Amino acid sequence: MVKSPMKKDAYRKNFQERRDWYERVQRSPFRFKYHIQPPMGWLNDPNGLCQKDGVYHIYFQYCPFYPELGSIFWGHVTTKDFIHYEEHEPALCSDTKWDCNGPYSGSAYQEDGVIYFFYTGNVRYEGDYNYVTDGREQNTILVTSEDGFTFSEKQLLMKNEDYPADMSKHVRDPQVFRENGRYFMIQGARSIQDEGSILLFESEDLVHWSYKLRFQPEQPFGYMWECPNYLKIGEHRFLFTCPQGVPRDGIEFANVYQCGWFPLTYDFEGEDYELGAFHSLDRGFDFYAPQVFRDEAGRWILFGWMAVPDSGYEEPTLEDGWVHALTIPRELYVNEAGLLCQRPLKELEKMRGEKVQGRLEEGLERETSPCFELKILMEEGAGAFELHLREAVVLSYEDGVLSLDMTGCGGGRTVRSLKVEKLWKLQIFSDTSSLEIFVNDGVDVFTSRIYDSMEDLEIRMDAGKLRGTWEYYPI
Ligand code: FRU
Repeated sequence: MVKSPMKKDAYRKNFQERRDWYERVQRSPFRFKYHIQPPMGWLNDPNGLCQKDGVYHIYFQYCPFYPELGSIFWGHVTTKDFIHYEEHEPALCSDTKWDCNGPYSGSAYQEDGVIYFFYTGNVRYEGDYNYVTDGREQNTILVTSEDGFTFSEKQLLMKNEDYPADMSKHVRDPQVFRENGRYFMIQGARSIQDEGSILLFESEDLVHWSYKLRFQPEQPFGYMWECPNYLKIGEHRFLFTCPQGVPRDGIEFANVYQCGWFPLTYDFEGEDYELGAFHSLDRGFDFYAPQVFRDEAGRWILFGWMAVPDSGYEEPTLEDGWVHALTIPRELYVNEAGLLCQRPLKELEKMRGEKVQGRLEEGLERETSPCFELKILMEEGAGAFELHLREAVVLSYEDGVLSLDMTGCGGGRTVRSLKVEKLWKLQIFSDTSSLEIFVNDGVDVFTSRIYDSMEDLEIRMDAGKLRGTWEYYPI
């Protein structure tokens, strides 16, 4: 697929001409009830997340006419409550020579009523190139907005020549924040030695940036790091990134690309920093490129892309003219052990239908529609069990290993596992074609797409000697 420039007018014309395609997408049986999904075509990373004057803006990498035409946009939805979403026309398109093959991923920084969007302008040359050390440009671009809908002229801030000399052409996905009264920008990078890192830049005015240092563990960890995020909760600092090229190690790093966080010790003054142990953000089949932002209430909120690039799974929605979605919104918090955890955003409780509850020792067996929330609380930690969900999902726990078996659920996913010493809580969100399983209040999460028949679905738990409670809510 050749990614070609397309301006707003051409978008509108192409969209009008493909009205039947858009309508076919809306009839797809896999369309979600409560997830952000592309109006048509392809969606990937969440971008530019922010809240302005009470309205949450969620942008995303969007290729509406995929696979027919390759033009990339920033798609755009807004919400005030995370229950009702409004679709808008794409926000950014490829209309300058610095982003002519796509406004790639980026993020939002707000100050004095202005939203500053920093993103990567992708340029791909036609010809015989390796596209790693040549054949492409990844430009850092700034565009501002006061309302999230109308945008300033784009301004080129940095080109590949402005990044450190040992970088390949892969430097992208800027995020900007303020520390110690100064501005900092991080970018994901691949060096010419094929080592992934996060580059740190500094600025006095958000426009002129100078390179400061790179965050990298002592031992190389993959060849490329995409989509970095920095966040600080209390005194805890974290760096998120998506490393590519980390070999599988038993049940660890089972997906083709990784996504996780490092605890960061750094005061943003000198050059000395420490990265702690890498913790995977997700243990399922379909999670990548998450972005975090702070809302007006001060909460750190995360959306992820519910897919992994190059995973090779089948996506039956393609036949219906669309593919991929974002996760549910999740709030980040730090638990007593200092671990960064994710919990479903409180607002999602408003989706709940009438509660049904019971005790595990009395058995859990019920019919269900595909859209539900299930909460299981185990007293004194769990012994072995099997939890059957929907048509063919088996979530089992034995000898300290929690396994999600999705063989037979459609889409080619198989088994993913996680060591959990003491399992005490599961909270499960099922939508038409997704499953998000929060383990122990979000210390770990399994996120996956699911393509079962959506008929005669059930929930059944063979709980053995387990004691505890369950709550079920139709959505
Ligand atoms: C991650 C990513 C980003 C890039 C974007 C392009 O999925 O590869 O690094 O900016 O997608 O769509």
